[in-house]
Amino acid sequence: MDILQKIAALTHQFSEESQAFSQGTAPTEPFRLRWLGKKGLISEVFEEMKTVDVGVRPQAGKEINVLRQGIEGFLREAQQKEGERRIHAAIEARHVDPTLPVLPLTRGALHPVTRMRHQLIDVFQRYGFSVYEGPEIESDFYNFSALNMPEEHSARDMQDTFFVEGSHSLVLRTHTSNAQIHAMLQEKPPIRLISPGKVFRVDSDASHTPSFHQLECLVVDRKISMSHLKGMIDVFAQAILGPTTKTRFRPSYFPFVEPGAEMDVACTLCKGVGCQTCSHTGWLEIGGCGMVHPNVFEAVNYDSEEYTGFAFGFGIDRMAMLAYGLPDLRQLFEGDVALHRQFPLYTA
Ligand code: PHE
Repeated sequence: MDILQKIAALTHQFSEESQAFSQGTAPTEPFRLRWLGKKGLISEVFEEMKTVDVGVRPQAGKEINVLRQGIEGFLREAQQKEGERRIHAAIEARHVDPTLPVLPLTRGALHPVTRMRHQLIDVFQRYGFSVYEGPEIESDFYNFSALNMPEEHSARDMQDTFFVEGSHSLVLRTHTSNAQIHAMLQEKPPIRLISPGKVFRVDSDASHTPSFHQLECLVVDRKISMSHLKGMIDVFAQAILGPTTKTRFRPSYFPFVEPGAEMDVACTLCKGVGCQTCSHTGWLEIGGCGMVHPNVFEAVNYDSEEYTGFAFGFGIDRMAMLAYGLPDLRQLFEGDVALHRQFPLYTA
């Protein structure tokens, strides 16, 4: 068989094989290797060309090139079809229906404490309060001394304190009341601010964690009285816990206020009747409050004859427990997504 006959035979063979190939789903790579590979049928003919008569070479060269281009064109198409088949197979294997509408992204969720913080800020901002953030690592002066708790004052024992290692005067703030001092040193009255944030105490049981969150409120102006204080407590307690929520003062002692009081809300579970949660008193303690002590005004160079003010501070975590009905404070810090999922991002 001379080379031209051989090319004609190959052309025929290719036409038959390619037709059969197009019917099935066989992979293209073995086909390509057999025809166009380095040791494939086409290379073989090219090898042979070197030995054929020079007179036949141009004709043979032309024909073999035509055949090769035909094979290449066929393969390109076959490879494309093969790619599509693979995509479809992958889609089917994953049970994806590409005709369905796009699913919404999984929503994130706010931590209950963050959400309560947002709710509280919202309430106070409606009354014209600004939000002021104080530092978490604090000097003795802002956390204690300026708040009428000089060194050796026994009231310091009320708050078991983390001290910063290697420092005599730096502490992790034990309350957000430090923000009162920062704000008053920076600004002149009238002052109307809240300061939410993290605070730290050496404490850990079912209702105490070593780090928790407080919200401080401070108002300083002429003629501020205790009734303003009571009014503001009612406003926020009712906004957060419901419009019929009752509050009360219980006389108490904090060095930086005089008079000072604990503030209670009627138990959210039994509505004041008495139950286990409120130790059968009908009331739940939420924080401390009072009229700013003249010594505090003195520490920030305010004239306590001209100005009066009130301050209160309470636990944001505790408010979240009461408002959302969580039985154990520690739940808030366990990072259980099942809890957090109940506080989706985009609903108020
Ligand atoms: N800082 C006090 C505490 O953490 C609460 C408080 C704030 C009391 C403001 C009175 C006035 O216990």
